[in-house]
Amino acid sequence: MTSLPPPYYNNDPKSFAYPSAHKRWPTILTQAIDDLSQAIGVLVSKGSTESVVAEGKNLIQQLSTILYDLDHDRPIAPFTAEVTAKVKDLASYNTGIATLEPERTTWHTAPWLISECVLYRRIALVFETAESPEWQAYDVFGASKRAGLLSSRVAVTELAVRYAQVSSQWPQKHEVEKLRQLFSEFVDIALWGNATDLSLLIGADASDLAKVQGHAARAQQEANVLVNDTQDAWDAVYGAHEAGGAAARVDFVLDNAGFELYSDLIFALFLLDSKLVDNVVLHPKSVPWFVSDVVPADIVALVHQIKVFAEEAEEEEETTQSKTSKTSKAALNLIADKLAFYLGEASEANGVNSKGRISVRTNVFWTSYLSYRDELHPGGKGGGAQAWEDLKDSGLVIFKGDLNHRKLLGDLEWPRNTPFLSGIGSKLAASGVRLVTLRTIKADVVVGLKEGQEEELNDEWKKIGNNKGDDDGRGWAYSGKWAVIEYSDGSL
Ligand code: F6P
Ligand code: MG
Repeated sequence: MTSLPPPYYNNDPKSFAYPSAHKRWPTILTQAIDDLSQAIGVLVSKGSTESVVAEGKNLIQQLSTILYDLDHDRPIAPFTAEVTAKVKDLASYNTGIATLEPERTTWHTAPWLISECVLYRRIALVFETAESPEWQAYDVFGASKRAGLLSSRVAVTELAVRYAQVSSQWPQKHEVEKLRQLFSEFVDIALWGNATDLSLLIGADASDLAKVQGHAARAQQEANVLVNDTQDAWDAVYGAHEAGGAAARVDFVLDNAGFELYSDLIFALFLLDSKLVDNVVLHPKSVPWFVSDVVPADIVALVHQIKVFAEEAEEEEETTQSKTSKTSKAALNLIADKLAFYLGEASEANGVNSKGRISVRTNVFWTSYLSYRDELHPGGKGGGAQAWEDLKDSGLVIFKGDLNHRKLLGDLEWPRNTPFLSGIGSKLAASGVRLVTLRTIKADVVVGLKEGQEEELNDEWKKIGNNKGDDDGRGWAYSGKWAVIEYSDGSL
């Protein structure tokens, strides 16, 4: 067996791991501490009990300890026996921490993937192990996710209007090519929805978001999809539809809340409304993760917010009599109602029970540090076997975003012309899980490029991006401006 490439390490100045561990994580933790102080302020003003306020201060202390350990490059400590006894998935983390090489045990020297996952797991644990239910349920990244969604109103509305237009003129049964083109359009929308990740857009405002959302931005970015296996993904979905009819199912291993989740749900609506699939399964995280990632509450909040956008459009319509506002209101209501219906919240008074045709399932595997190339198969550790058991029956599993992509490939330093199937490895590639990854590139690991393509990208980035100081041009891979759509049919 040929040996695997090494992982990316936090002390490698040529990797995005380095600025992540040295700058981005401390900033993110500082913001989490600020968020918590504000939340305590709100509780005090509402006359909350002293014990809840005092506990909040203690949680700040715990977050500050994590920041201190990070800033002082302390060894990554295992989770204590006391906490591991209560929180089941942590034992697997301790196994990973115990296998760090002796010279790679600290925050600034460890492999990027495991250390970053430990960091977010530790932040989540601060709240999970709190005494009061208020803090147990608190999402320390919730406010920034809500703000991100509020800033995306223009793009949310634009996409709702586009969807309403599509659903007013569905292709006839024989117009397969039209349906294929729509599939490709919604793949594209869900792909670029991933460009708006809050852990990168720290401090971004509505105009920054508008630059990466919306139809015009996507049209410009079309040429930046470096590998595009959309046709294979279509063949998988259409093939499953033809073979299984009503049984066809698509899964989304979700990434970020806000506009990205919205773009994923629009894609899910398309799959269901077009009758290409009968069921969609969403896989969010069970705890707040990597700042922007979806937890189940974000799905409910999104549907609610679309309704609020619709009400705002209605108010605009009343004051301005504008046709555009009327169209927006109708489209936003259509999307919110459809989502509520498919998610099973619709009343059964209309005689139709679609309960759960979009269902939501969590699994601790999605918040472990384990890679999918190593563990997403029948014998997989840390929840990998259960995730495989669930996903193997799907017509297509859509992995969203950068972190999922890093985990598919093990976050290893693959030469960039490595074929995708070699990168994900034979266990996953032969696991029976049919998958596609929709990923805007925000980290070093990239595979599937043609000979010479990496050098061309470096040259291009040197021309447009050299103000960032990465004068050898490697910064294109952290910019989120390029993307890959890579497919495996699960049978080597
Ligand atoms: O910091 C690591 C990282 O995976 C980056 O690669 C990326 O910027 C971010 O976290 C998460 O991106 P995504 O939300 O697309 O997984
Ligand atoms: Mg994310």
